[in-house]
Amino acid sequence: MTVFSVQSTIFSRASVALLSSNGFKRFSFVSSFSSSAAYSPPKMRKRRYPIVSAVDIGGVAIARNDVVREDDPTNNVPDSIFSKLGMQLHRRDKHPIGILKNAIYDYFDSNYSNKFEKFEDLSPIVTTKQNFDDVLVPADHVSRSLNDTYYVDSQTVLRCHTSAHQAELLRKGHSRFLVTGDVYRRDSIDSTHYPVFHQMEGFCVFSPEDWNGSGKDSTLYAAEDLKKCLEGLARHLFGSVEMRWVDTYFPFTNPSFELEIYFKEDWLEVLGCGVTEQVILKQSGLENNVAWAFGLGLERLAMVLFDIPDIRFFWSSDERFTSQFGKGELGVKFKPYSKYPPCYKDISFWISDLFTENNFCEVVRGIAGDLVEEVKLIDQFTNKKKGLTSHCYRIVFRSMERSLTDEEVNDLQSKVRDEVQKKLNVELR
Ligand code: DAH
Repeated sequence: MTVFSVQSTIFSRASVALLSSNGFKRFSFVSSFSSSAAYSPPKMRKRRYPIVSAVDIGGVAIARNDVVREDDPTNNVPDSIFSKLGMQLHRRDKHPIGILKNAIYDYFDSNYSNKFEKFEDLSPIVTTKQNFDDVLVPADHVSRSLNDTYYVDSQTVLRCHTSAHQAELLRKGHSRFLVTGDVYRRDSIDSTHYPVFHQMEGFCVFSPEDWNGSGKDSTLYAAEDLKKCLEGLARHLFGSVEMRWVDTYFPFTNPSFELEIYFKEDWLEVLGCGVTEQVILKQSGLENNVAWAFGLGLERLAMVLFDIPDIRFFWSSDERFTSQFGKGELGVKFKPYSKYPPCYKDISFWISDLFTENNFCEVVRGIAGDLVEEVKLIDQFTNKKKGLTSHCYRIVFRSMERSLTDEEVNDLQSKVRDEVQKKLNVELR
């Protein structure tokens, strides 16, 4: 994954921070969640992607053809992603993501006397200008690639962060707001990564009268206010915890920080934030102001607060999951129920220059959907004579709702083999 920060801008020392070629951070999370293996009876097989002809987002109907276009070479939105549009887990009061969002709302409402406006129904289909240019993402930034972002067409994407709405809201005159929404990223497959997740963006603009008289310059004033606000939020969610600030880089803020909290004997990255680049404010006619902004990933916070071991649970309609959570019940600990047995399949092929792991994961997800739990590179080597590199991936198939049959998994694996060859131009070994 190659984005501005962690998938949802949080996690622990178990996170491995990597630096991508152009210096932007990439993270991969190494999970150590355990499982219990008690048996419970298999359920009827459900259709993986409900056939929906159109979804309604913010009063606008979005049809399949609006986002999935086989005839446009730039389009890389699969049906599995279309089926997630309009689900809006953050608007469900009894869902961990909705419960967490409401708890954050409570914090802002009570500490800022309802001054933060809330937006949670903005369409995730945005222009490349909104998603990238407006927030100063450089033209060659990796996050703009077809490998990392879902493109509807060359000018339109599924937003990869809620920061995509900062500039438009500023232009419309909003100065203190929270934007919550589903965001989309092409990514690897494991227990903490899913191509759709939820973020909340916070934004607060200040005027000269706010910092005049404080004895501080505007940037320092905003940075201190930001830190105070977010430390309070972390305490509201986690209780009295140890915290620390880490300097970082985002294209849209300067200075930029990450907040980490000490949780279960590990430092855990909770969010990214900073003082908004002056150019962004200037573009909205706010050159005499200063602002702070933050972005946090709801899934990863919810996984920690509710003890949820696998990100796929958030999409489960299994009653054994959904019935465990109630409106306003922040931090109720999830009680694991039986996990069905995993099934491992390996696939090896000679890659071509164009091969990327995200593309491979997308093929696997397109075939197996939520039945794929993890895709891991387990071996690679280069044959110098042939001038070719071989990759061997282990695919872990497991349903969260029933036992998979051998026949079914073999069938999935054989489809994966066919498609990988056809779509990715690799040579199976
Ligand atoms: N957009 C960033 C991401 O997706 C998160 C973020 C960082 C948002 C800093 C902000 C910010 O508003 O100031 O990783």
